[in-house]
Amino acid sequence: MSVVMKKNFWNEKHTAVITGASAGIGAEFARQLFEAGHRVILCGRDENALRALSDELCGAPYIIADLSRVSGCRALFEKACEYVPDIFINNAGFGIFDKFSESSLEREIELINTDVRAVHILFKLFLGYFEKNGSGYILNTASIAGFMPGPMMSGYYASKAYVIRQTQAVWAECLLSRSPVRVSVLCPGPVQTGFNERAGITGTIKGITAKECVSYTLEKMKSFSPVIIPSVTAKAVVVGSKLTPALLAALACYVVQKTKKRIGSEKQA
Ligand SMILES: NC(=O)c1ccc[n+]([C@@H]2O[C@H](COP(=O)([O-])OP(=O)(O)OC[C@H]3O[C@@H](n4cnc5c(N)ncnc54)[C@H](OP(=O)(O)O)[C@@H]3O)[C@@H](O)[C@H]2O)c1
Repeated sequence: MSVVMKKNFWNEKHTAVITGASAGIGAEFARQLFEAGHRVILCGRDENALRALSDELCGAPYIIADLSRVSGCRALFEKACEYVPDIFINNAGFGIFDKFSESSLEREIELINTDVRAVHILFKLFLGYFEKNGSGYILNTASIAGFMPGPMMSGYYASKAYVIRQTQAVWAECLLSRSPVRVSVLCPGPVQTGFNERAGITGTIKGITAKECVSYTLEKMKSFSPVIIPSVTAKAVVVGSKLTPALLAALACYVVQKTKKRIGSEKQA
């Protein structure tokens, strides 16, 4: 590939496909990209939520797909390409809060399939498509969780480490092969969404709003920042994790996780 990324990419209007757009961070990406004049294609499983957001965004198209299935990923990609997108926000994901020896294997496989396999498949398919079309931007959503071991959420933290490392590697491939595509990874700390409820926990740090997370991220995307960490506290945690031996970080994380409560239980986790 001998074409470089267009410098004026952000001066143009684009078509953005957003997974996890039925809620939280993904829905906020849809709102802010739409407000900035871009066309948005909403993806998720919750049809009512997608329809409501579509109504709010002047009938934005939506695609229903279960990304825990390979067939769902392929179907989403095929339908999304009908809109000739040039931005892909690879954002859908969820967490599981439980001790590894006691958690549901079935649910963990669903997490791996959604947070790792689907992110990988869609990253690859959209990268190939954008390179062929001569332009594009991909943002993968990871988390600061990906910088450290995470007792009580071991699969989730490990899944986000995969997303960070793969995005960084592909970022270098794109840059040095003069690809017309840029990739970034978003690594938020806690954000106020339905994420914790879905993971079955309460008593967590409040975090920034989805609006703050997304407006910061979109600004950083304009300068093609490879790793985007949208808050001072989150940045401090990442720096701390780099300075702390992994096993010590795991012990410290375990202590913090034990202060959280499972939803429906008065006991600490
Ligand atoms: N909130 C935080 O504190 C935080 C911090 C760091 C990173 N993150 C990451 O940010 C991303 C978005 O999370 P959020 O905070 O916005 O959580 P959220 O409000 O629970 O939204 C999660 C989104 O993922 C979609 N999703 C989950 N499983 C799916 C599946 N099998 N197929 C298709 N879509 C699926 C959901 O769609 P449906 O409901 O329609 O299925 C929903 O739109 C996730 O990758 C998460 O790991 C969140």
